[in-house]
Amino acid sequence: MDVIIVADRRSGAAIIADAIAALINRQPAAALGLATGSSPEPIYEEMTRRHEAGVLDLAGVRAFLLDEYVGLPPSHPASYRSVIRRQVVDRLGLDPGQVTGPDGNAADVLEACRDYEAAIQAAGGIDLQLLGIGSDGHIGFNEPSSSLGSRTRLKTLTAQTRADNARFFDGNAEAVPQHVLTQGLGTIVEARHLVLVAWGAGKAAALARCVEGPVTAMVPASVLQLHPHVSVVVDDEAAAGLSLADYYRSVFATKPAWQGL
Ligand code: GLP
Repeated sequence: MDVIIVADRRSGAAIIADAIAALINRQPAAALGLATGSSPEPIYEEMTRRHEAGVLDLAGVRAFLLDEYVGLPPSHPASYRSVIRRQVVDRLGLDPGQVTGPDGNAADVLEACRDYEAAIQAAGGIDLQLLGIGSDGHIGFNEPSSSLGSRTRLKTLTAQTRADNARFFDGNAEAVPQHVLTQGLGTIVEARHLVLVAWGAGKAAALARCVEGPVTAMVPASVLQLHPHVSVVVDDEAAAGLSLADYYRSVFATKPAWQGL
């Protein structure tokens, strides 16, 4: 696991956009795993700047969403399909037909979960998966106690996650759906490169448990410790709880340029 501590979100976003650009350069039809929430926004903004400058072409890219609310119409502004359409698809010129997410409106959600797993498999798996981290250590919508081997499935949100996400529902936690579909932890760790981002002091405790704590279902993000290629990009505030922060800084300062992320 590489832990990269940056001065601010914009420099972290530039490092990740470089890695995504290098991937697309090698593989124009790369499969990107997209995350929602505020954490990946600086990355999508940086990619948009590059796309508008004509140096980043995502026309051939395929994209897969991490998760989705159950029962929100796709047109609802807080549905993850809508968020990704606004923040990524429209701005970066992705082919909407190549953007897939779990169908939270399916009559049979279990079948929708199986179909989603099959779609990821049929695409040859995900090349680079972006991830945020919840304040309780969740990734995707895998709440604490999620099986480390779980696949795409229905989950029930904790009260804390509904409160955290209330800001996308006019501040009303009751309006946040209780149920969601999410890639499982076992699904997420099959992506070839995982890139987790965390900004601000509110993520420091969860990030320290993810990176330096025991691997446990109580901190779903700790499953990243089992993956061979993980980049964790954080600002100083989010890194505040890391005991080896000085070591991580020296590793990054001396990282051979040819390695990339
Ligand atoms: C939601 C999403 C996660 C995201 C998390 C943190 O629950 N399902 O994918 O990582 O929130 O969100 P934020 O980045 O807004 O702090």
